[in-house]
Amino acid sequence: MTEPLAGYMRAVSLREDALLRRLREETAPMPLGVMQISPEQGQFMQMLIRILGARRTLEVGVFTGYSSICVARALPDDGRIMACDVSEEWTSMARRYWREAGVEHKISLRLAPAVQTLQELIDSGDGGYDFAFIDADKENYRTYYEQCLHLLRPGGLIAIDNVLWHGNVADQTKQDPDTVAIRQLNSRMLADFRVDLSMLPVGDGLTLARKR
Ligand SMILES: C[S@@+](CC[C@H](N)C(=O)[O-])C[C@H]1O[C@@H](n2cnc3c(N)ncnc32)[C@H](O)[C@@H]1O
Repeated sequence: MTEPLAGYMRAVSLREDALLRRLREETAPMPLGVMQISPEQGQFMQMLIRILGARRTLEVGVFTGYSSICVARALPDDGRIMACDVSEEWTSMARRYWREAGVEHKISLRLAPAVQTLQELIDSGDGGYDFAFIDADKENYRTYYEQCLHLLRPGGLIAIDNVLWHGNVADQTKQDPDTVAIRQLNSRMLADFRVDLSMLPVGDGLTLARKR
C-alpha cells in the first residue's frame, strides 16, 4: 500500500468523526502514541461487531480508548465491553473520551494484568462472549488467545492485532521475545482447527479467528 493510495482509500471510505479525530490527535504526540489502532481498523472492527450482532465483548489492551470507543458505539445500548489494561494514566484519558462519547456505561475497566482478569472470568464460570480484541503485551498473546477462546461462544470472533509486527515476523534475524511470541502464535493458529482463520494486512496485521 503506497501513501497516496492509502490517502485515497481513507478519503473515499473513512467516516471518523470529530471526537475520534481529536482522540487520535491527542494520542499521536505521546511517546507510545503509535500503539493506537488506525482509524480504518476501528471502522472495520465496527463492521465486524455489527455483522456479528455482538452484545458482549472483551478488550485486552485499552490504551487511550480508540478501539473501545469504536466497538462500544457499534454495540447495542445494553452491550458491554470487559476492558483490560494495567495503566491508570492511559485509561484515565480513555475514560474521559468514553464519557464524552456517551459510551461509558457500556465499558467495565479492570486495571490488572489481563492474564489475571481473564482467568478470574473463566474461574467464575463467565463465558459466551461474542467478540474479543487482543492488543496488549505480545509475550502473553498465546495465553490471551487461549483464554479468549475459552470465554467465547461458538461462532464468536477473536481479532488479534499486530500479527505482522512491522514485518519482523518474516525476518528470521529478528529473535526478540515479542517477535518470537507473535511468530509462534501465528504458526500455531494455522494448525488450530478449533477456529476458522483469516489473516489480513490491515494496520500492522490483523488475524481473525472464528470459534467453531
Ligand atoms: C497497543 S496498546 C492498545 C491500543 C488500543 N487498543 C487502542 O485502540 O488505542 C497496548 C495496551 O496494553 C496494555 N498492557 C500492557 N501489558 C498489559 C498487561 N499485562 N495486561 C493488560 N494490559 C496490558 C498497555 O497498558 C497498553 O495500554
